[in-house]
Amino acid sequence: MLATSRAIATNQHGPHKDVARRVERALSHPLRKPVAAHTREAFERARAWYERDGGRRPLILDAGCGVGLSTRQLAACFDDHLVIGVDRSADRLSREHGEVGDNALLVRADLVDFWRLALAAGWQPSRHYLLYPNPYPKSAHLKQRWHGHPVLPVILALGGRLELRSNWRLYVEEFALALEQVTGVAAAVEACIPGEQYLTPFERKYHLSGQSLWCLVADLPHAPQLVPGGAEEVG
Ligand SMILES: C[S@@+](CC[C@H](N)C(=O)[O-])C[C@H]1O[C@@H](n2cnc3c(N)ncnc32)[C@H](O)[C@@H]1O
Repeated sequence: MLATSRAIATNQHGPHKDVARRVERALSHPLRKPVAAHTREAFERARAWYERDGGRRPLILDAGCGVGLSTRQLAACFDDHLVIGVDRSADRLSREHGEVGDNALLVRADLVDFWRLALAAGWQPSRHYLLYPNPYPKSAHLKQRWHGHPVLPVILALGGRLELRSNWRLYVEEFALALEQVTGVAAAVEACIPGEQYLTPFERKYHLSGQSLWCLVADLPHAPQLVPGGAEEVG
């Protein structure tokens, strides 16, 4: 089946000139947004599930998991890990895509809050996936991209093997710049060649539409000290 996803349309010709300024701001201004009650409750349920065996199994976070196909696949691939897929869309999460394995959990929550609660709880995912995040391709929307968002230090502070995939090369390039600014880790932006099985529906859609896919992988230490105001302080 051919897909017809439109290529990214942007008014940018290179990495946004304000990436460094946004990152500097995120590193120096504590994120004061109060945690929504529904995400706090969702996090507590996820925490009870994750910590039921004393937190002995390594954790994988699938951030912005959509319908959760990637969560299911990661759980099958890493069957000695626990995989938590998080998305704010109840509609996407409720679509029928088959059994979720015993070692996987789908959670409806706002990532901006979920990540902060996870860091405050001392979670240290061994792997962390950001698969095809919303690109927000207009230059005015830089602050909505994860690397332009005040939550960036929290994402990076969690540590582990962070993998970002996107059909927009500039998104990955900008993320790499922000990553290096925060952590000193230089990550290469590489072409992403899907394996026999697509990891996500967006990956499938973009690839079948003839679009190039890009990715970045970085091994990061757990580094709560990156978060201004402290990782413990969650509104
Ligand atoms: C472009 S879709 C990609 C979904 C999936 N990873 C895939 O590749 O098929 C981006 C997803 O991120 C989710 N998302 C965006 N911002 C979010 C937030 N603040 N909290 C939780 N989920 C969010 C959206 O609901 C959406 O499902």
